[in-house]
Amino acid sequence: MIGDKKIVFSGVQPSGNLTIGNYLGAIKNFSRFSEDYKTFYCVVDLHAITVRQVPAELRRRTYETLALYMACGLDPKQNTLFVQSHVPAHAELGWMLDCYTMFGELSRMTQFKDKSAKHSQNINAGLFTYPTLMAADILLYQTDVVPVGIDQKQHLELARDIAMRFNQAYGDTFTVPEGYMSTDTMKIMSLAEPTSKMSKSDTNQNAVVYILDSKDDVMRKFKKAVTDSDACVRYSEDKPGVSNLMTIYRAFTGKSFEEIEREFDGRGYGDFKLAVGEACADGLAPVREEFARLMADKKYLEEVMKNGSDEAAYYARKTMSKVRRKIGFVN
Ligand code: TRP
Repeated sequence: MIGDKKIVFSGVQPSGNLTIGNYLGAIKNFSRFSEDYKTFYCVVDLHAITVRQVPAELRRRTYETLALYMACGLDPKQNTLFVQSHVPAHAELGWMLDCYTMFGELSRMTQFKDKSAKHSQNINAGLFTYPTLMAADILLYQTDVVPVGIDQKQHLELARDIAMRFNQAYGDTFTVPEGYMSTDTMKIMSLAEPTSKMSKSDTNQNAVVYILDSKDDVMRKFKKAVTDSDACVRYSEDKPGVSNLMTIYRAFTGKSFEEIEREFDGRGYGDFKLAVGEACADGLAPVREEFARLMADKKYLEEVMKNGSDEAAYYARKTMSKVRRKIGFVN
């Protein structure tokens, strides 16, 4: 607790190129938390180097990620926004927690297995201990709630196990965090293959709409979106393409499925796709403009990073002094 507020922490990879799926399904949720929680959102550059990075690109994407989250509505006055490597306690606690994490536990992580297969030339120790650094991120702030995608569930459970193990050995030290998995209500599917999730790394460029896509790109992608031969705008499980477009249209316009069905009653898919494209492009325009404005003002972004890491470091320091004392380090 900070004051009378529970604590939310989440980490985001500096990978840029977020999709409307990330936007509608996750990022919009982030800003909602700040009303009831003390929120920390961290660009996890230390995690990023577990796979090879081009230095200039890593640096640029760190700025971009911060700018994009702010452009999507995360206000730095209401949320602590910072960069992981600016608070050295993350790496420090990460090392300590490595010593309370078993080789076998880390070996069982499915993301480690997947990434080792994908980067077989670079199966480094950091890739292996990635989850303990993530546990350190979370436990450093005595986090209560961690909003993450379902793919991070196993890592979150490991963070809980590490916290409980440490508390068992030394008495109450860490808050045991709960995951907050975003529900499927906002699951956005690929425009080309509407039975699989929209993924930012899809090689088919028409399948994915990125938050920063131009209006022309957005319109072109929706025009090419896969539908069916039924020519009827109706939400139904056996119409995955049309249903996905309706979900997107609903998210950007606030109209219900019934209203959408009425609006396009008797009209073809061509009209409908244009309308979805327009609504999406209009919804993203302010985000894109704000992103461009922020990226043109590096000084301001650096000020946000600095204020964020100063504040984060203050809370991290509290946890670290407790941890050092418990472990038996000389003060
Ligand atoms: N591993 C997370 C991901 O790839 C990012 C992350 C790092 C994170 N540290 C975190 C998420 C702490 C939540 C809490 O998405």
